[in-house]
Amino acid sequence: MKWRKACSVAGATVLGFTGLVAAGGRPAASATAASAVSAVSAVSAVTSDNGLSIRPAMGWSSWSFVRRWPDEAKMRAQADALVSSGLAAKGYVYVNLDDFYQRCDSNGFMVDDHGRWAVDPAKFPSGIKALADHVHAKGLKFGFYVTPGIARNAVLRNTPVEGTSYRAQDIADTSQTHKNYNCKNMYRLRHSHPGAQAFINSWANQMASWGVDYLKIDGVDATTIADVEAWDRALRQTGRPINFALSNNLPIAQAATWRRLANSWRTQGDVECYCGPGPNGSGFPLTNWARISGRFGSAANWQPHAGPGGWNDLDSLQIGNGDQIGINADQRRSHMTLWAMAATPLLLGSDLTALTPTDLAMLTNDRLIAVNQDGVAAQRIVSSGVNQVWRKREANGDYVIALFNTGTSGDSTVGVTWSQAGFGGPAQVTNLWSGASEGTVASSYSATLRPGETRLIRARPASATPRHEAENATISQGVVESNHAGYSGTGFVNGDNVVGSYVEFAVRESGPRTLTIRYANGTTAGRPMSLTVNGAAVGSALPFGSTGAWTSWADATAPITLAAGTNTIRLTGTTATGGPNLDRITLS
Ligand code: GCU
Repeated sequence: MKWRKACSVAGATVLGFTGLVAAGGRPAASATAASAVSAVSAVSAVTSDNGLSIRPAMGWSSWSFVRRWPDEAKMRAQADALVSSGLAAKGYVYVNLDDFYQRCDSNGFMVDDHGRWAVDPAKFPSGIKALADHVHAKGLKFGFYVTPGIARNAVLRNTPVEGTSYRAQDIADTSQTHKNYNCKNMYRLRHSHPGAQAFINSWANQMASWGVDYLKIDGVDATTIADVEAWDRALRQTGRPINFALSNNLPIAQAATWRRLANSWRTQGDVECYCGPGPNGSGFPLTNWARISGRFGSAANWQPHAGPGGWNDLDSLQIGNGDQIGINADQRRSHMTLWAMAATPLLLGSDLTALTPTDLAMLTNDRLIAVNQDGVAAQRIVSSGVNQVWRKREANGDYVIALFNTGTSGDSTVGVTWSQAGFGGPAQVTNLWSGASEGTVASSYSATLRPGETRLIRARPASATPRHEAENATISQGVVESNHAGYSGTGFVNGDNVVGSYVEFAVRESGPRTLTIRYANGTTAGRPMSLTVNGAAVGSALPFGSTGAWTSWADATAPITLAAGTNTIRLTGTTATGGPNLDRITLS
């Protein structure tokens, strides 16, 4: 091993993928994670360079249920519930405080001595840092909220820009205001003035010092690109990894810009119906089916723009509190299916202190979470009346296919052929909501669905030998590299030249198999590795003799027997040179 590749995967997975990350910070080689990582390098050149959100974020936001009345007790209660419900352990780790933590007077937002929004001390008497500390102590991540510009009160007080000799009046363009949904009165910044960036930096620094891990900037549109750029720079100069989320209803014409600058972008207006009985339509119901079904179109249109590092955000996931949330159980499963297929952030809007068992089971369904976290946004391949079919191909060669009846009355039979989905049959089919195997299916699939119902399946073509890329596996003492051509996937593993460095694959197959290991050894000496399956040694060490060059890849085989469920296959270097470079394993 000569060099360590700057690995954005590790940092990002810690943020967005916590429940599924192996100790080393790399994604665990579960079916969930294995398929996802290989897409990373393909699109990284155009993604946000903050290196975050290799997977869509998962967590909770205050906006849907808590709405305009967040306070520290409610936020702590929701954070606590995220953990006690088991959701956090499944990867739902963000606790995002949305709008209305601030205070207004007749001139708009009240500000601190450096012109930043002042936090309402009546709602957050202990301050935001104390709340973030509580969230972090629970193993969670803390999200915060802002909109572009500078508050009128900062300009009226002509507050100094922290750490500079500039003042608010130097940097504000008082002839124009920004979109803001709360206290309003946000003047545009004169981004040509150096104090504007310094002001945003000071705000970002304050957030970083409080422990903010995620920032939603709302009120973004085509006129605020300079603001989004300034916030992107500001967040990155803090040195703290802060997932950067844009909101809302972003124009698709600038999709490449949003992708370059941010980790997610809202594709439409709010998913909330604002039709509850409380003030401003707050309270249950939080949404309705029209708000959900109206998202299929934007998910399809925005699909090409999603990928590791930047995601199409269809808005919060309104599941958790049963039917009172405004959609029935069939519709809730369809809601989650679309969000999973689209690889959109899973930020819950529900009241986590009142989760129903049915909804908790939906939210914690590992197979659904795996589809969301596979790093692939699905394409719509059928849209005909109420019928929709979506498909994606995961990195291991599996196809995930979702069928929907989006209507509100009458059953509908929804069908797809394997060739429409992109492969030739037959395929092993698993129903992902139930987990049941549906056996081998020859060439097409159909289901008669109730109104609002979905069917989500994983189809594994019989022709495909699933590949398990070493770069997606759990690596102990080694790095992913790509400097020797001929590997498959996005790279290979260069294990440290020590006894005990290993690569461990997690595979879900059972029965006798021939394990084929693709490797390269550019030295003249053997690079032996021991092979264990589920901890038990298989034969003696595999010799992994010279292949003549690091770019010459060869196959070694060993017969193994796999058990039902997840198996671990580990290759461990037995000499001081460590193993060869490992590309992948296949099982046949
Ligand atoms: C070289 C080679 C690596 C290899 C290493 C080794 O550095 O470029 O790919 O892993 O030798 O000897 O292990």
